[in-house]
Amino acid sequence: TTPIIRHLADLRATTARWRREGARIAVVPTMGALHEGHLTLARAALARADRVIVTLFVNPKQFNSAEDLAAYPRTEEQDAAKLAPLGVDLLYAPEADQIYPEGFTTLVRVNGLDQGLCGAFRPGHFDGVATVVTKLLNQTSADLAFFGEKDFQQLAIVTRLARDLDIPCEIIGVPTVREADGLALSSRNVRLSAADRAAAPALAAALTWARDAIEAGAPVGPTLDEARRAILAAGYAEIEYLELRRARDLATLTEPSAPAQLLAAAWLGGVRLIDNVAVAPV
Ligand code: PAJ
Repeated sequence: TTPIIRHLADLRATTARWRREGARIAVVPTMGALHEGHLTLARAALARADRVIVTLFVNPKQFNSAEDLAAYPRTEEQDAAKLAPLGVDLLYAPEADQIYPEGFTTLVRVNGLDQGLCGAFRPGHFDGVATVVTKLLNQTSADLAFFGEKDFQQLAIVTRLARDLDIPCEIIGVPTVREADGLALSSRNVRLSAADRAAAPALAAALTWARDAIEAGAPVGPTLDEARRAILAAGYAEIEYLELRRARDLATLTEPSAPAQLLAAAWLGGVRLIDNVAVAPV
């Protein structure tokens, strides 16, 4: 089974030993409840590094409500069991005070990129993400860090903070892993009722339909309106956003004049789902 470390001092002793051996170290930050999306990140890391650390920390600073934090699944034993056959070297599951010791007061904020999209609906969320990811990159001293494109805004924010803060770690994005029917894997999918699970793929379907239409020259505004109608018709209760953004910096786009991303968040049966697809410039 995968060794588990819970204290920063032990993590540093291990990575120092790996460094003396000349190893290249990769990290895959997670909040646990591991599914095939997380495992795909771990495999991508194993393909590019000599040593791979998966981190498991349910970060209180990035949750918008105490209920959501309390409801987050905690399945550490199963998580460790899933990582062992892949050959992951270490599961770093720090105790809370290893991340936020008494008196902790620093906040990392990536201004601008945290505006709009998920940032508009989850105040403070990306400050929490940026702060914990900065700490995890520093604590692990990883050369490479892997993040899913599923959380596209998060990936953009992490890439920017590593650059802005001179953290010597290459940030690598991994394409979204999907169910056979197109639904993006998420730890939240298990909270969908059977009927909602059947309706859920409508989000990905609307995004890929809109992508194809835009790439074929259809006007952006009416196409996005049509996609919104399809998502609601499928049974989604509410769409938080469905927008076309420039992929590079998430600037708003009215035309696909540069490599773009179509991003959406919507509520289905009390569960908030997000997804995004790339749109080639026309
Ligand atoms: P978590 O939701 O556990 O996700 C961990 C990583 O798995 C993220 O990089 C996320 O983008 C990726 N991931 C999730 N579902 C995926 C899918 N279907 N395909 C590909 N990758 C997927 O994201 C977080 O945790 C936290 O915000 C974290 C970065 C760990 C900071 O606390």
